Amino acid sequence: MDLISRQPTVEWAGVTDSRRMLARAERVDAGFTGRPGVLGRDFAEPVYPVFARRARGARVWDVDGNEYLDFILGFGSVVLGHADPRVESAVKSELADGLARSLHTPTQLRLAELLVETAPGAEMVSLHRTGSDATAVAVRLARAATGRAHVLRWGYNGWHEWCAPRTNGLVPGAADHVETFVYNDIAGLRRRVAEIGDALACVVMMPYEIEEPAPGYLAAVAELTRSRGALFILDEVRSGFRIAPGGAQEHFGVRADLVAYSKAMGNGYAVSAVAGRRDIMVHSRRISSSSTFYRSSDAMAAAVATIDVVRTGETSAVLWELGRRLQAGIAAAAADCRIPARPIGLAPTPWLEFHYEDDGINQVASQAFYATTLREGLLLHPSHHWFVCEAMRERDIDQAVAAIHAGFSAAAAAVRQL
Ligand SMILES: Cc1ncc(COP(=O)(O)O)c(C=O)c1O
Repeated sequence: MDLISRQPTVEWAGVTDSRRMLARAERVDAGFTGRPGVLGRDFAEPVYPVFARRARGARVWDVDGNEYLDFILGFGSVVLGHADPRVESAVKSELADGLARSLHTPTQLRLAELLVETAPGAEMVSLHRTGSDATAVAVRLARAATGRAHVLRWGYNGWHEWCAPRTNGLVPGAADHVETFVYNDIAGLRRRVAEIGDALACVVMMPYEIEEPAPGYLAAVAELTRSRGALFILDEVRSGFRIAPGGAQEHFGVRADLVAYSKAMGNGYAVSAVAGRRDIMVHSRRISSSSTFYRSSDAMAAAVATIDVVRTGETSAVLWELGRRLQAGIAAAAADCRIPARPIGLAPTPWLEFHYEDDGINQVASQAFYATTLREGLLLHPSHHWFVCEAMRERDIDQAVAAIHAGFSAAAAAVRQL
């Protein structure tokens, strides 16, 4: 791969307007309090734009007019590309018929049927808005179906009481019956499951985040969970409809009792689902899990259009190919710059890590790298793995690799100055 032959991009205009908006937002929008933005907070000197004007295909334009190749992609909610015409036209025609129709809609029925056709093990589904909705409903269903309280969980599962990463604002004991476990440590989980015994309602987990499951690990967790009469729940909010049409269940060859989906299923629209065994899903009518907007069909239309594309398998194939090209480029650029950095993660959700001998040096390298790649026109998340989308072309990946090469050179220079 030729790292040098990139077309010159438009000069980076800085983020002046974005920062001005940030100052206004900090006065009125509590979500900004104490942090310069989801991305900027990773830096001592925030350089990231906070406000975007427009997004289309694989690109985002910030309010200062800078253009970026977007590897954050709506935090993984965009799988086809921003403003994909197939999805947008489905949403527009849904909106033309009126949005809050009070009754259920044919689109809702179509989405439920489509999920049952495409999601492995889905006999029934329930439809919601966010990933946190879906994981909370799945856990509530597991408790209702088993009559048990205890939950073992792994990964980021959302912000609701049962799994909130920050405990400020929670009633003491709000998550008393929930504990986390160590990924890929089946022996440790086996011991804990034995101690909990018949109180265990479910094990709920992301199938992977960066590290891949050890061979047989997910199947062993499923088997161990079921051996205690508890339910195995996969949180496929990030992996679903992305790494394969049937998500991690298909890719890793494992079957869950319930699965939570969101993000990619709506290509950027707010929609989520719980899918699974009929005998568990029927408990939906016994639990509280309703919301005014669960009937809004805009995002459901987006999900029908997205799943209709993704179910063919072509989207996932493209994501794997693009991700592998990016990872090969990262490895080649790191070697060329003689910098201790390597690609990590699954190809459709790639990331990189610096592995200097010292965390402080990694931090210096990382700051120089992300500041440079941003100016070179890449939107890369510094503390979360990245995503690729179907709208990216090989030349986009090559452009990214050239920018990453520049980022590695800047990182090496910053480290040399220490
Ligand atoms: C694996 C996983 N589960 C649950 C969630 C929560 O989804 P949401 O942010 O839509 O509430 C996320 C969000 O990033 C996620 O990645």
